[in-house]
Amino acid sequence: MEKNIIPVSGGGFNLADYEKTAANFKWEDAEKEFSWYQTGKVNIAYEAVDRHADSFRKNKVALYYKDQNRKEAYTYDQMKRMTNKAANVLKMHSTLAKGDRVFIFMPRSPELYFALLGGLKLGTIVGPLFEAFMEGAVFDRLDDSEAKAIITTPDLLGRVPVDRLPKLEKVFLVGENIEETDKIVDFNKQLKKASAHFEPVWLGKEDGTVLHYTSGSTGRPKGVLHVQYAMVQQLQTAKWVLDLKETDVYWCTADPGWVTGTAYGVFGPMLAGATSLIVGGRFKTEDWYQAIEDYGVTVWYSAPTAFRMLMGAGNELIKEFDLSSLRHVLSVGEPLNPEVVKWGLEVFDKRIHDTWWMTETGAQMIVNFGSMPIKPGSMGKPVPGIEAAIVDDQGNVLPPNSMGNLALKKGWPAMMRKIWNNPEKYDSYFLNDEWYVSGDSAYMDEDGYFWFQGRVDDVIMTSGERVGPFEVESKLIEHPAIVEAGVIGKPDPVRGEIIKAFVALYDGYEPTDELKEDIRQFVKKGLAAHAAPREIEFKDKLPKTRSGKIMRRVLKAWELDLPTGDLSTMED
Ligand code: PRX
Repeated sequence: MEKNIIPVSGGGFNLADYEKTAANFKWEDAEKEFSWYQTGKVNIAYEAVDRHADSFRKNKVALYYKDQNRKEAYTYDQMKRMTNKAANVLKMHSTLAKGDRVFIFMPRSPELYFALLGGLKLGTIVGPLFEAFMEGAVFDRLDDSEAKAIITTPDLLGRVPVDRLPKLEKVFLVGENIEETDKIVDFNKQLKKASAHFEPVWLGKEDGTVLHYTSGSTGRPKGVLHVQYAMVQQLQTAKWVLDLKETDVYWCTADPGWVTGTAYGVFGPMLAGATSLIVGGRFKTEDWYQAIEDYGVTVWYSAPTAFRMLMGAGNELIKEFDLSSLRHVLSVGEPLNPEVVKWGLEVFDKRIHDTWWMTETGAQMIVNFGSMPIKPGSMGKPVPGIEAAIVDDQGNVLPPNSMGNLALKKGWPAMMRKIWNNPEKYDSYFLNDEWYVSGDSAYMDEDGYFWFQGRVDDVIMTSGERVGPFEVESKLIEHPAIVEAGVIGKPDPVRGEIIKAFVALYDGYEPTDELKEDIRQFVKKGLAAHAAPREIEFKDKLPKTRSGKIMRRVLKAWELDLPTGDLSTMED
């Protein structure tokens, strides 16, 4: 074992238990806690809300909400009533029914959570959209999934191209003084009027819940569909990995527009009957520390980018806050640098527990349990019930310390069940009908710890958000000045990677700084702020294969001063 191992901090099971549990555990063992285990009636929102509202947790706070203007608390009983109301509003003002798609496109607020859980009570498939998405991104998702309705705000309505979406029946607006029309419903007004009683629509374990669009290296964003049965893994990992206990105050900093914000911002903690804090508005160092102090946060799930930003703000600031409530700290989304782990020990006196998973996996897969020695830089070990391995391109399992594809034995509860409208894409994830291949390369050491090495494809992780270079390139070449474009992730100390674009211009365009800014704005307005390239470099011509594919690998090698490797397929 390496020398710099950080010993156990407590929580969860101990290492001996881990080995035992991992050997004997079956997911069916984790089903017993759900009411459907007895009744056969399945609905994830019922399990997350009503089951607790009808128990000793009735008056326990489910949700604290805080932003610049609001400070609210909702008990499980109140959540039951508000989500019932939301379900009634959606039902009464649209033809939405089981399996229909409804999108939620708004900043974090209690109404977002009512709408999400209300949509699930109605049996619809909910597509949460990150508030930074611009018109093109919103259109792609609603169009691909043929959404019938969207819940949004007056500020964001301009980015919903209602006229170009013939299937879109209704727009529910969350705001003030909304003028209702055939198409537009005032969500808050109707919420007040609606009944607080609603019988959830009962579903099967394999029925859909959330549809998260995510990026790959090629093609448009893909709609990853999760199902009810994912709740089994979400609850079990909320206990084992988040280590949630009855008295915890838990804060997941992720937005529900991303999978962490649903799986562990809503489902995991609420299935466990925990108290969650939600902080709206933008990231600000002081506000974050203040939130921990004010609410006495005990369990905190965030991302390397956020930790690096806090780290960048200096260690003096931390001393102004009382962060002693923190008991368990976790991270997800990108590699957690050993320096950050070291910083966490120094300033919080807490280990930061890395967790690895993906939109497609639907729940945590490889993690550092509270009770495991941490090897800084390692993602940890597979959750019991999960079989992870390093395989070669043929699906052969490789011995310890060999680099290869990080793969998971197909068939865990939270695994995505389809890619919307794209069965070929779905199938392409699986090797020999046995392994799900993640697209990450990694190795496993002799102690069974997994170490992330990089993406096999060109997917970019910038500030913890997954961006497909193809989408950015497609948007770039819509710009009138651009003939061709290649996009790469360039390593960055704070953001993990930044997006760098190489572009070739049409004759007659001058490579100026104004043009760079114009291009940046063009992508920002067309896709999303986080997808806009921070760096743009003009080139006369881009490296391409003979078949015309931009060779991002060569661009990256140029950028990083690395050997370009095999150029035999390059044109000229
Ligand atoms: O490359 C891995 C990286 O994020 C990818 C998944 O991105 P997304 O679907 O947006 O989900 C992020 C949050 C669940 C992975 O293929 N990634 C995620 N967690 C880690 C990570 N890379 C290194 N270490 C992690 N802990």
